[in-house]
Amino acid sequence: MPAIQELFVRRMEEKDIPHACAIDIASSALPWSEHSLRFELNQNPAARLWVAEMADDMGEARVVGLLVLWIIVDEVHIANIAVHPDFRRRRIGQRLLAKGLLSASEEGARSVFLEVRRGNLAAQSLYRRFGFIETGIRPRYYRDNREDAVLMSLESLQPDLLHKWEQDTL
Ligand SMILES: CC(C)(COP(=O)(O)OP(=O)(O)OC[C@H]1O[C@@H](n2cnc3c(N)ncnc32)[C@H](O)[C@@H]1OP(=O)(O)O)[C@@H](O)C(=O)NCCC(=O)NCCS
Repeated sequence: MPAIQELFVRRMEEKDIPHACAIDIASSALPWSEHSLRFELNQNPAARLWVAEMADDMGEARVVGLLVLWIIVDEVHIANIAVHPDFRRRRIGQRLLAKGLLSASEEGARSVFLEVRRGNLAAQSLYRRFGFIETGIRPRYYRDNREDAVLMSLESLQPDLLHKWEQDTL
């Protein structure tokens, strides 16, 4: 497996959509369709879509993670984040999120919120690392199994910290 330092986080392009969609299918009970990602990419002015890319064994670039943010005035909503199951726990999610939030802060965003399944302890742990705290519950929010959503928020983005997380490698 290539060194994680070769990871490159960049804005999503049309050609990435099938790969990003495949990662989401492997990661979520309610994955986004290619159509939804295409809409976000091309028609939602509030959306910022990112991918994490690394070289595969043949030296070919491979998309291993995706991030979708919505920026509404000075607030960011994390709409989707997923890392390919074969590449988890290598700080890819952290670097992807740090880069996306850093860019959002450069656009003037100050705070961030998201919903996460009550049982999704991995994602909650990632968000806590960034300083997110639990601010509420949306009962039976997820339509597949009626699982509650935990609402988490980060009051104030800190660019210095995001720079550090963005470069943090294993
Ligand atoms: C959540 C997700 C994106 C994390 O991606 P990742 O690349 O594996 O996460 P990272 O390696 O960057 O983890 C950074 C830190 O987050 C925490 N974390 C991440 N995964 C964790 C897990 N399974 N258990 C406990 N803590 C975890 C840890 O603090 C970790 O640091 P450490 O490895 O030094 O302990 C990934 O698990 C995923 O794609 N899950 C399915 C999709 C999903 O749940 N999306 C969130 C929707 S709200």
